[in-house]
Amino acid sequence: MSDRRGPIVTLDGPAGSGKSTTAKAVAERLGFRHLDSGGLYRALTLALLEAGTPVEEWNALTEEDMRALDVRVSSSGTSFDILVGGRRVSEELRGPEVTEYVPFLASLAPSRASLLHLQRMAGEDGRLVADGRDMGTVVYPSAEVKVYLVADLQQRARRRLKEVGHEDPTDEEIEAAAAALAARDRQDSEREHSPLRKPEDAHLIDTTRLGFEEQVAAIEALARAVERD
Ligand code: C5P
Repeated sequence: MSDRRGPIVTLDGPAGSGKSTTAKAVAERLGFRHLDSGGLYRALTLALLEAGTPVEEWNALTEEDMRALDVRVSSSGTSFDILVGGRRVSEELRGPEVTEYVPFLASLAPSRASLLHLQRMAGEDGRLVADGRDMGTVVYPSAEVKVYLVADLQQRARRRLKEVGHEDPTDEEIEAAAAALAARDRQDSEREHSPLRKPEDAHLIDTTRLGFEEQVAAIEALARAVERD
């Protein structure tokens, strides 16, 4: 292991693959911290929308401009709170407008550069489970355990709907949710900077037919194996 005090576990994968809930549960079991990096990109997006900066002007923003939005993390027990201008944000990061514009914001190099240092600092001591799109490829390339989570698109759409309280969606609702996820995956995979892709050294876990408990246990076991080394 590197000079960190413990391992870093990365979970990357497409939208709705269950990364954040899985990462949170794995972190709790291991007594590690959980970092939801998607929340950081969502926070930058929220800050720009709240500031009233027109979306057409976002690609002219510099790294300095992104930093001035003052997105930070503050460690809180087993996770990190996300702060915008000192205000803790959580539910508002999941709103439809933020979800619509976040892939565009995340495709801009200055937004990624502005968040890199902050993410690396969060992992400085190890004992971290971080989920996102480029955790294993760009942010923590030397992570001891890398996982790439995938799941069938329809299944991901059902899970996403369930998360927002839709227990019994119609076929049309599933199709619409699947189309939205597919569009986001396309944007995240086709962008120039830090595109979504499986790190070469990642364990591929397909959660389509796995129960939540099984996928959490599988990742926990990978992390415990490197802790013992
Ligand atoms: O994980 P979540 O769905 O909250 O991520 C929201 C968006 O943030 C993703 O669709 C992607 O555009 C961006 N993102 C990213 N890199 C990460 C995490 C999220 O580009 N590491």
